[in-house]
Parts: sequence; C-alpha cells; structure tokens
Amino acid sequence: MPFADRAIIHLDSIDSTNNYAATLIRLSRPPEGTVITAQEQTEGRGQRGSSWVSSRGDNLLCSIVLYPRILSATDTFLLSQCMSLALAEMITDRLGRDVWIKWPNDLIVNDKKIAGILIEFSWSESRVQSAICGIGLNLNQVTFPIPGATSVRLVSGQGWASDDCLQSMLGYIDRYYLRLLGGQFSEIQSEYQSRLYKHGEFASYLWNGQVTEAAIQSVDRQGKLHLHTRDGELLICDLKEISLIR
Ligand code: BTN
Repeated sequence: MPFADRAIIHLDSIDSTNNYAATLIRLSRPPEGTVITAQEQTEGRGQRGSSWVSSRGDNLLCSIVLYPRILSATDTFLLSQCMSLALAEMITDRLGRDVWIKWPNDLIVNDKKIAGILIEFSWSESRVQSAICGIGLNLNQVTFPIPGATSVRLVSGQGWASDDCLQSMLGYIDRYYLRLLGGQFSEIQSEYQSRLYKHGEFASYLWNGQVTEAAIQSVDRQGKLHLHTRDGELLICDLKEISLIR
C-alpha cells in the first residue's frame, strides 16, 4: 500500500481538520497520506459554504493530505469520485446495506445521508499541488439537528469504533487512489455512475430557483450533472445550480 507508515495526527478539538491540514501543508508540507482526525470541530465545514455539525467523540472526522499532481484543472472530479467510491464500498462491506452516492459526493443509506466529503485543492499553473480530503462519517450519533441525516448506529443498531473504522477506510481510499494514479479514469467514472443515487429516476430538483422534474442521465468528466426533464430538455448543471428536493 502506498502510505503504509503514514502519520496520523489525533486532535482533541480544532476548528476544522481541513483548516489544520491547510496550515500544515503551508508550514511543513507533510508526507502524502498524512491524516488529521479530531474528536470535535468547532467550525466544521461542509459543501456549498454550509457547516458540518457533529457531536463530540461520536463520529469519524478526518482530513487526508494528498499531492495528486497528475490531475489537471479539468480532472479534479476524479479524486472526488475515488473518495466517494472508497467510502461507499467500505460502508457497504461493513454494514451490508446498499450505499448510494448522491452527486457530487454525499453517501446515502436508506435515503439518508451517512457521510459527506469536502475536498479542497491548491493550484499552481493549472496543475493540482495539494488536495485536502475532508471526511465526516456518522458512526454513533443518534440525534441530528437537521432532517435527512443518519448514522451507522441508527441503521444497524450498533455503532463502530472510529479508530478501527479509520484504518479500514484508509485501506479502501489507498486502493482507489492507486487506481487513479494508474490512470484508470474511465473505470472509475463508470463505477461512480453505477452507484449514483436517483440515476435514471425522475425526482424534483430546485434548478435556477425553479422546481423542475428531471432524471439524472450521467456525470461528465468535469463533474457536471446531466439530467433530462420530462419534456426532453437537457440540463447540464454544476453544484451551485441544482439541488435535489427531499
Ligand atoms: C458535506 O457533505 O457538506 C461535506 C462535509 C465534510 C465534513 C468533514 S468533517 C472533517 C473535515 N473537516 C471539515 O471542516 N469538514 C470535513
């Protein structure tokens, strides 16, 4: 495995493990594969500028430092696909339930979100210099301040220890990352497509401020979502333009 002797930095409390990783990269450029975990985050961050709230000590909160220099500006979604697939496969294997990926990278079990991923890149001359892969996986928390969230304990009646879960998750992530470095782009894209939540199913979306019925057709190499409406119109959207209505 690529990062068998990786450093894992366990923190008690921090604003955000992604922020900590960014500072670490700036100050000391830690080895690739370095992981930061925390018992709690005081300013955990999610996608679209949202916050990530997790009760202290209950869940897996971590950030992984990678330097995927093979990725150009237009290929970064492949890393997001690898992270989602690794997490989906690990949760499926351990939980024995179907796990879906809600575009772009929410992990869904029983129609509820069990994990989220926030990847932050730094750039130089349109090549990726570093990627911080932040993962929040709900393990033992049983009440959530927002609807639509779940955890391993809620799904199975039994929680998981976060250290053990981290070790097994890193194995899955390393395998997908090696495939990415090995150039298995089209295989990764088609595996991602086959795990897509609501793929080919009509559902209600908020699209440019309008409620629209549409079905997901595919996700392109740049990570844009392609959907068709009931009257056959094709919508090509990025993250800020569309959201699924529950
Ligand atoms: C999302 O679904 O909105 C993404 C959530 C990502 C949360 C994780 S928790 C560890 C890491 N640190 C953060 O501040 N965010 C990510």
